[in-house]
Amino acid sequence: MADHLRLGIAGIGVGAAEILPAMEASPDIDLVAGADVNREVLERFQSRYPGTRVYDSVEGLSADPDVDAVWIATPNRFHAQHAMAAARGGKHVVVEKPMAISLAEAEEMLEVVERSGVKLLAGHTQSYSTPIRAMRRIIQSGRLGRLCAIHIWAYSDWMLRPRTADELDPSQGGGVPYRQGPHQIDTVRLLGGGVLRSVRAMTGQWMPERPIAGYYCAYLEFEDGTPATIMHNGYGYFLGAELVPWGTSRQRYTLEERGRIRKQMREGVRNEAQDKQDMRIGGRVENQIFRESRPAEWVPADLGMVIVSCERGDIRHSAHGLYVYDDEGLHEIDLMGERGMGMAQRRAELDELYEGVVLGKPIYHDGRWGMATLEVCLAMVESARERREIQLSHQVAVRSDYDAAWELQI
Ligand SMILES: NC(=O)c1ccc[n+]([C@@H]2O[C@H](COP(=O)([O-])OP(=O)(O)OC[C@H]3O[C@@H](n4cnc5c(N)ncnc54)[C@H](O)[C@@H]3O)[C@@H](O)[C@H]2O)c1
Repeated sequence: MADHLRLGIAGIGVGAAEILPAMEASPDIDLVAGADVNREVLERFQSRYPGTRVYDSVEGLSADPDVDAVWIATPNRFHAQHAMAAARGGKHVVVEKPMAISLAEAEEMLEVVERSGVKLLAGHTQSYSTPIRAMRRIIQSGRLGRLCAIHIWAYSDWMLRPRTADELDPSQGGGVPYRQGPHQIDTVRLLGGGVLRSVRAMTGQWMPERPIAGYYCAYLEFEDGTPATIMHNGYGYFLGAELVPWGTSRQRYTLEERGRIRKQMREGVRNEAQDKQDMRIGGRVENQIFRESRPAEWVPADLGMVIVSCERGDIRHSAHGLYVYDDEGLHEIDLMGERGMGMAQRRAELDELYEGVVLGKPIYHDGRWGMATLEVCLAMVESARERREIQLSHQVAVRSDYDAAWELQI
């Protein structure tokens, strides 16, 4: 393989819009093809990226001899099918979170990937963000003593964003536990070493117009007894972004717009298909945040507010990086860098793919890692349904050389 990675993207939707700017900016990655069942989206993709090839099926894309890897960003229920189609076509695979919608699917994916001799990266979670990786570095350094607890709270408007039929069906991986759970679970696992022991959770479905859970809270326990709690409320009344003064101007919808959207949904007059199409590539409100090269301050958005407590200090996000509280006081670590934090997160994932495939380095968020995160997601839903603690059995540790090459002064 040459030193450039030729990438095809499958499912050019709202999620894809978040990663495309980072693909464009990666010098070693060539975006060469795209697949979608939505003709308008394919046209917009080709007009933005002249010279790329387009396909109306992932199978078609997977047969393209000039594609090395496929990024799967189709709806959750297709992740397994599409990842396996790409692997069978000899393509390396990145699959969006959640990796699949059942452990049986995830297991089959691992088998097919192994048999096909390709690599799989279970990706696109916020655990790739620079502040989270820096938190892990500080924990690992031992300067604050033993890790004692991790807590994450998110208040977002996830339930008010336009949704397709797939996204409104829990049996197809619809709802906040499947869609936002992986971000928080991956983050907790990355910070705490990877191996959780058990989960007790509750989910909440509070909005009659949305037949999916928009809320969860979970108590997660690591093997050594270290506790973590995660919570996401996607109903969009209070938003976590309001906790920082600059957050109010960085929201998708204003308070008034959120009220208007709820009213439209209650009255059944919202044109959700059009609203969703508008957010995809080339659309009226395509998510431009990810295109901004200007570094922007952190806001507690979909991942939420992360607080790590160690024996001799706490760590949390600051506007430009992290605050570390220890016995000497409060220190800020600036992590803005030249890429800005949003772009850095997505570039980190592309770097892991590139280095894994082209340079033969390990894939850290591999299929087993993704399956362990999926296990926790599924256990949250099961725990809520059965109102009991669920024991886990597919957990894997973070590789000890993760981020070893990252030069960060802490
Ligand atoms: N990591 C993140 O931060 C993030 C953000 C948003 C979405 N996502 C993930 O992206 C995935 C899609 O979500 P979305 O919000 O982009 O939804 P979306 O509906 O906007 O995007 C899905 C795209 O896949 C296409 N598609 C549907 N069925 C297909 C098929 N059989 N073959 C080819 N294309 C098909 C649709 O036409 C659409 O363009 C989900 O798995 C979601 O978890 C991740």
